[in-house]
Amino acid sequence: MTQGKLAVVVLAAGLGTRMKSKLPKVMHAVAGRPMIAHLLATVAALAPERVAVVIGPGMDEVAACVAPHATVVQEERLGTGHAVSCARDALRGFDGDVLVLYGDTPLITAETLHRMLAMRRAAPHPAVVVLGFRPADAGEYGRLVVGEGNSLELIVEHRDATSAQRALPLCNSGVMCIDGARLVGLLDRIGNDNAKSEYYLTDIVALARADGLPCGFVEGAADELVGVNSRLELAAAERILQDRLRRHAMAEGATLQDPGSVFFSADTVLGRDVVVGPNVVFGPAVTVGDDVEIRAFCHIEGTTIASGAIIGPFARLRPGAEIGENAHIGNFVEIKNSKVENGAKVNHLTYVGDARVGAKANIGAGTITCNYDGFTKSLTDIGAGAFIGSNSALVAPVRIGDGAVIGAGSVIVRDVAPGALAVARGTQMELSGWVEKFRARKEAEKAVKK
Ligand code: UD1
Ligand code: CA
Repeated sequence: MTQGKLAVVVLAAGLGTRMKSKLPKVMHAVAGRPMIAHLLATVAALAPERVAVVIGPGMDEVAACVAPHATVVQEERLGTGHAVSCARDALRGFDGDVLVLYGDTPLITAETLHRMLAMRRAAPHPAVVVLGFRPADAGEYGRLVVGEGNSLELIVEHRDATSAQRALPLCNSGVMCIDGARLVGLLDRIGNDNAKSEYYLTDIVALARADGLPCGFVEGAADELVGVNSRLELAAAERILQDRLRRHAMAEGATLQDPGSVFFSADTVLGRDVVVGPNVVFGPAVTVGDDVEIRAFCHIEGTTIASGAIIGPFARLRPGAEIGENAHIGNFVEIKNSKVENGAKVNHLTYVGDARVGAKANIGAGTITCNYDGFTKSLTDIGAGAFIGSNSALVAPVRIGDGAVIGAGSVIVRDVAPGALAVARGTQMELSGWVEKFRARKEAEKAVKK
């Protein structure tokens, strides 16, 4: 087992120039969550004692995102070795295992990290365990130089490699697990005599070997280790993660009728026997109970859906929507910050915002809760079993009592008592034979003009 003390250092000081963005690279989202948050969620599964995130100057968004974890500012970007050195205060007195991760490599799994820790913690206790991988295109990754008995001898950066070394298939993912008792001693001896004049963290392998210490590597799947340096690579990471989330959803008992067109957030939770139609997007913070049917073309975020509900097609559920058991939300319905209680039906062309829709209430087509006057948002409370006629405007703040009925086309500005009928629209009038007289008059006028 991989028991023992663990500290994690995440390197995230890079500017991400190739993203061409005002946002620090690690704040770009995949599956609705910043890359750095993915890493920290994975790391949390390893229950580390300490976590330090190395950021660049002015990266306040990153510091806020990773809080309460500590951040360390690397004032000058002098290389990955220098970046880890910047975290030395955070590691002071720590002699467990130190895992170094890159903020721009967000798809790594806890399972892979466990394998690295397991190797570190087993004889011969390598001073450094590196995560290697074999990408389809090894490109400019550093290469692992492996000696006898799978001993890792050296990591050579692409720019500094000989052509024979460049032909090596095993690449450095950047992820390392290092003996905390030796880390600072090794870092202090890294030089910058290389093609980029940077302090390379990768040099600690050769330094440890020179001390006669064993180093090792484990291999990870290439699709866990894609680095994101450009928008194109961000899209590639998104595809890989979506594929993973779709497989997970199906493995856990959801039916996805067209998996490739369903988009999840990393934190989407689906119950058993959920059926999701084509072209459904789950934004962050969605929880779906058992036996829910989500029909085609729904966009859902910040929402809880209880068991048995039917959503869509073409529904939009916005943050703060709480959909009760067996409730029905139909086409072209938008729900925001509202509770739709058990068995209620909101089936067509409706906006429900800042409201409660009581159990088994029925909201007719075209109902609008008028929740905003341009300055403040106000609440609409619709009682259990109420029936709101089609094309009604409920001008908040307003309460509709339990079981009340609102006539179609009403504009409701005052509370309606339980069990009452409220109709607030022009009274219908009817003039029999009016049309014939009207036409006759008009024809006569026309004849005079000719
Ligand atoms: C690094 C590795 C290379 C590996 C590749 C995998 C080194 C010397 N090279 O190269 O072997 O194949 O990653 O993707 O480590 N960073 C800082 N401060 C710095 C420099 C970097 O925080 O001063 C951070 C970056 O934000 C990034 C990570 O470290 O998250 C990697 O840096 P980057 O410059 O992208 O390294 P590569 O040249 O890709
Ligand atoms: Ca990189």
